[in-house]
Amino acid sequence: MDKFVINGPTPLNGTIRISGSKNAALPLMAAALLADGETKLDNIPVLHDISTFNNVIRVTGTKVLYEKETHSLRIDPSNLYYAKSPYELVRKMRASFYMLGALLGKTGEATVSLPGGCAWGPRPVDLHIEGLKAFGANITLEKGYVHAVAPNGRLEGGKFTLNPSSVGATVNLLLAAVKSSGTCIISGAAKEPDVVQLCNMLTQMGAQIEGAGTSELRITGVEKLQPVTFANASDRIETGTFMIAAAMHPESDLTLTNCNSNDLGLFTDWFKKTGTEVEFNDTEINVKAPDVIKPISIITEIYPGFPTDLQAQWATMMTQAHGETVVTDTIYTDRFSYVPELRRLGADIRIRNNSAVIKGKTPLTGASIMSTDLRASVSLVMAAMISGGESEVLRVYHLDRGYETLEDKLNAAGANILRVVE
Ligand code: UD1
Repeated sequence: MDKFVINGPTPLNGTIRISGSKNAALPLMAAALLADGETKLDNIPVLHDISTFNNVIRVTGTKVLYEKETHSLRIDPSNLYYAKSPYELVRKMRASFYMLGALLGKTGEATVSLPGGCAWGPRPVDLHIEGLKAFGANITLEKGYVHAVAPNGRLEGGKFTLNPSSVGATVNLLLAAVKSSGTCIISGAAKEPDVVQLCNMLTQMGAQIEGAGTSELRITGVEKLQPVTFANASDRIETGTFMIAAAMHPESDLTLTNCNSNDLGLFTDWFKKTGTEVEFNDTEINVKAPDVIKPISIITEIYPGFPTDLQAQWATMMTQAHGETVVTDTIYTDRFSYVPELRRLGADIRIRNNSAVIKGKTPLTGASIMSTDLRASVSLVMAAMISGGESEVLRVYHLDRGYETLEDKLNAAGANILRVVE
């Protein structure tokens, strides 16, 4: 398993180009299965999660061409014959569960393994299943698999309320609904940019969707969807991650390119409150670190609130703020595996229920650290970059799942990160 050896502290200066969004790309890939012909997706990041999902899609007989040099994907389901996603693949990545909606919409039938647990809790899929039932699917659970059938080949439609609002369930229900024979209404729908982008692509394919970006989606089913060429959005979580990383060292002055600040929601407001200077310019964001980071407590919320995917990075930054902060996660209440690792670097941070309570500012000193999920791991890299001396961040395969060429991007901006292949 590869590890990073990081020497710090180092500021971040210069320019980093933001890649295409991982979380937004996966629903688009699933949507491509619904088209009659070859879809081309641009601005697709080169990541393990994308390769994993390519393999999930290939099992169905769909042709997938991943052109990594040009960051594009060609997906052609013309020969799709097998509407099943096996456990061996689904367990590697939860988003594979989008195959349920996509295959049901495509063929009227789908058999998809239930995803297992996750490093930060159970992450249920009950709303996905209940929603599909409300739209007319017959669903049985057998030997760890969900078997869904649309009587007469197409879902007849219906109404379902997501409580709590769920990104994953909204995506799955949209995928299943666009080819229904009736009208499907999703209340409590996620307003996330990833969902809006999926709606845009489906609409371009010929789907009829009203209410994208609001909490109620009204979908009138159509019989056929055509293939399109579609450009994926830039990664708002990667953008937020590098913004926070830059703010953590007082000598940093970093410009991010190829990003969309509108997708950051209220994160930007929280970020400015820390005293960091931020300038937005079309697709660029410039961040100048403050001399003193103000302690700002946050609570994660559904979009446009503070994203759960940036909570670990925020807590890491707050170890350098002058004062006490509380970082609370209401979406995933167990998502704090990074806390004991930050303590090993010298942070004064403890877990209280679903919050991290942080007292700053504490100097950090290099150590060996590791974590069990993607966003926690990147937070440890960020902490190591401002720690004195050498740190080892173990199990970087988590990072390869979701951050494209992370160490190359950071090193080009002044970091000192060496990947050791083991
Ligand atoms: C969540 C984040 C998403 C992030 C992703 C990966 C939110 C709202 N969603 O998406 O931005 O990119 O993690 O880190 O911030 N739930 C149920 N039953 C279900 C589905 C979900 O109870 O069937 C609950 C979850 O436990 C959670 C909440 O609904 O508390 C939101 O879940 P959901 O948005 O589906 O999570 P992800 O799709 O994993």
